[in-house]
Amino acid sequence: MSALVTAGIAVRDAIAALRRRDPNAHAFYLYDLDALSARAERFRAAFAAAPALFVYAMKANGLPAILECLRDHGIGADAGSLGELELAATAGIDAARTVLNGNGRTREEAEWAVRRGIHSVNADHIAELDLLESAARTAGRTLRVALRINPGIETPGHAYVATGHDDAKFGVAPAEAMEAFAARARWPHLDLGGLHVHVGSQVHDPAPLVAAGERALEWTREARARGATISWINLGGGFGVPARGAPEFPLETHASALAGLFTQARASGAFEGTLVFEPGRWLVAPIGMLLAEVLWVKHRDGRRFVILGAGMNDFLRPALYGARHPIVAVEPRASTMEPATVVGPVCESGDVFESGASLPPLERGDWLAFLDTGAYGWAMSSNYNGRGRLAEVVARGGALSLAREAETPATLRASVTALPLE
Ligand code: LLP
Repeated sequence: MSALVTAGIAVRDAIAALRRRDPNAHAFYLYDLDALSARAERFRAAFAAAPALFVYAMKANGLPAILECLRDHGIGADAGSLGELELAATAGIDAARTVLNGNGRTREEAEWAVRRGIHSVNADHIAELDLLESAARTAGRTLRVALRINPGIETPGHAYVATGHDDAKFGVAPAEAMEAFAARARWPHLDLGGLHVHVGSQVHDPAPLVAAGERALEWTREARARGATISWINLGGGFGVPARGAPEFPLETHASALAGLFTQARASGAFEGTLVFEPGRWLVAPIGMLLAEVLWVKHRDGRRFVILGAGMNDFLRPALYGARHPIVAVEPRASTMEPATVVGPVCESGDVFESGASLPPLERGDWLAFLDTGAYGWAMSSNYNGRGRLAEVVARGGALSLAREAETPATLRASVTALPLE
């Protein structure tokens, strides 16, 4: 029966500190930046054997304080939109360490990439190359481009986070990619020198990730046979963060398996370039928790409903993917555990975080914590039900700071207009 602590700070003190600043806060996200630094270093060390560029998949959590922390550990940005490109630049991330992803490329994104000279764009299909070429030609510059190949590799887990199988919307077929490499002179302002494969997210068994590396090397040889040199291979992200108590993703073992593969390729002259990795979840999931106040405890037909100040709009993963995150009391009142159905305040029957939770006795005003919610938590939140998005607080070296203010009803009104359009 112990009180929850993060980054050396009692979570109850973080709650009290935020409440002093915003008495209306009924939920917020809290991140441990000391733990983030440690994970960034561990990730880099694991993959130190081969020349590599690490770009953080900022879609997992684009909070500037997180981007800046990772930047200080030499980790760049994998952006998926113009908004993320701008966020990464504002966080001081070098364009040379920025990669642009996404399957709905726009002219504005292409122009931004050319103007700032980012590391590379991952092109999702062949016609996109014409758009990229046109943006590069207009600026009189060369743009580095990797072709995203759909490897036809299945990953277990939720269908929404598998991206490398034949039915997934992402990437081009290997044969199409080879034709494009052979015909690369069609795009004289593109350095079509990269391959990109991302098989999916929340991958726990590294086998499909290694298989993707092997395929990428085969394609590299094939491209060479067609006269094209591949100078970087982007193996994407996907490194899973399992439920607490389950074995963690074997990062170091996986990294040495890849190192073996690529050292051999280097020795044989098959591939002498750089590897790119796009980790998202692995870096940030375990460093974050969602904190939510118990608004009400309702008993009905022998069931205990715990109604929280956070809902599915604040944390969508349980409703969207059936994801389960540990839920614990910040300051347990007793060690006796009783069943509970933990729900949010949103007008949807699906606004249920956990129907079979086991929690101590709770009263109004207590707080619960959802652990391992640093990735795809705040990032996927919305204003559904007229709810402002939550504040984000960071802890580092024993100090707390407010990294993002909560949205208020006034924030929600701010973009409303009645502007006549002609
Ligand atoms: N690279 C590409 C091209 C991606 O599409 C993604 C994630 C990543 C890297 C980073 O993957 P990670 O290392 O975080 O697994 N909202 C879902 C996850 C969607 C992932 C989308 N793409 C969830 O909450 O589980």
